[in-house]
Amino acid sequence: MKAIMETKPVLCKAIEGVFASLSSPALAKIVIADLGCSSGPNTLLVVSGVIGMISTSGYPEKTELQFFLNDLPGNDFNYVFRSLQHLKQLADPKEGLLEPPYYIAGLPGSFYTRLFPCQSVHLFHSSYALMWRSKVPEELSSGVHLNEGNIYIGKATPSHVIKLFQKKFKEDFSLFLALRSEELVSGGHMVLTFLGRKSSQMMAHGDVGTMWELLAEALQILVQKGRMKEEDLTTFNLPYYAPSVDEVTELIEESGLFDVEHTGVFESSWDPHDDSKSNGDAVVDCARSADSITNCSIRAVIEPLITDHFGESIVDELFQVYVPVVAKHLEKGRAMYPVIVVSLKGRL
Ligand SMILES: C[S@@+](CC[C@H](N)C(=O)[O-])C[C@H]1O[C@@H](n2cnc3c(N)ncnc32)[C@H](O)[C@@H]1O
Repeated sequence: MKAIMETKPVLCKAIEGVFASLSSPALAKIVIADLGCSSGPNTLLVVSGVIGMISTSGYPEKTELQFFLNDLPGNDFNYVFRSLQHLKQLADPKEGLLEPPYYIAGLPGSFYTRLFPCQSVHLFHSSYALMWRSKVPEELSSGVHLNEGNIYIGKATPSHVIKLFQKKFKEDFSLFLALRSEELVSGGHMVLTFLGRKSSQMMAHGDVGTMWELLAEALQILVQKGRMKEEDLTTFNLPYYAPSVDEVTELIEESGLFDVEHTGVFESSWDPHDDSKSNGDAVVDCARSADSITNCSIRAVIEPLITDHFGESIVDELFQVYVPVVAKHLEKGRAMYPVIVVSLKGRL
């Protein structure tokens, strides 16, 4: 939610750009797609945010909006559809703020495949989804290469394994750009927000990597306790890669498909309840913060992958073991991760 708020000005500018590039703004039928929308309170936050921005910006009279909410087929779209009734009604005749008519549809499918007909979308938005890869590099999932007890890039990860993660990111992100470029109308925009690294140095990913190293540590503890097999851990890796800003912009330039209108990086805390801006680095209550990180930020995201690979029986125990491991890490200070925001305009 904080990231969606942080990127609001960038999204606002992209919307202005969409209206500016319309050939007949008086009859604006705008198609907006949120990729990796999930099924929680943030899903509708994006929709109501965009409606609000358009309502307050004085849109052309006959504007109509079509939203597509996309996620993988396993997403709880029923929950999303049921919660549509809570979508904030903005219409305020006193202020002269009337929202344009809008229509909302769910769209199951991977954003690493074609999702729309050619030249049919005006604005793509995606928040906290593009660090997920289409799959784990095959050489890792098949066990041909091993990641030395890590589940993502950690301190002991061999350089050839780092290259496998990098290669998968390059393939996926280039494919994503090519697919979206085909689907965007001429002059269409994309605002993409995802976890990344501040510098090109591989380990400079702040706690994006550390949280996964700590999860690997918790998994090791369960192996030592005889609760799971060592080989189950050695074949488990995350379909994940947090790129540097340079890696992202290089691929965009290489594609030749988009102009970069904005690039930014900001830091966010792994603890969603951490509002401190002035407290410095110290965590006041490490156990409580570790609990909140575990349940709201890690378990909520990773549980389906853990269940698929290790089975349901170890999930509760794994996260019970993880909490004190994270709490110990927090004694060093707040756990932060960098977030990359890019706003792109289609060239075609
Ligand atoms: C952390 S959630 C982000 C939810 C929401 N956008 C937000 O900002 O709070 C990431 C979502 O991306 C989805 N996702 C991951 N890979 C995807 C893919 N290839 N295609 C579509 N959705 C994907 C996941 O299923 C998940 O719902």
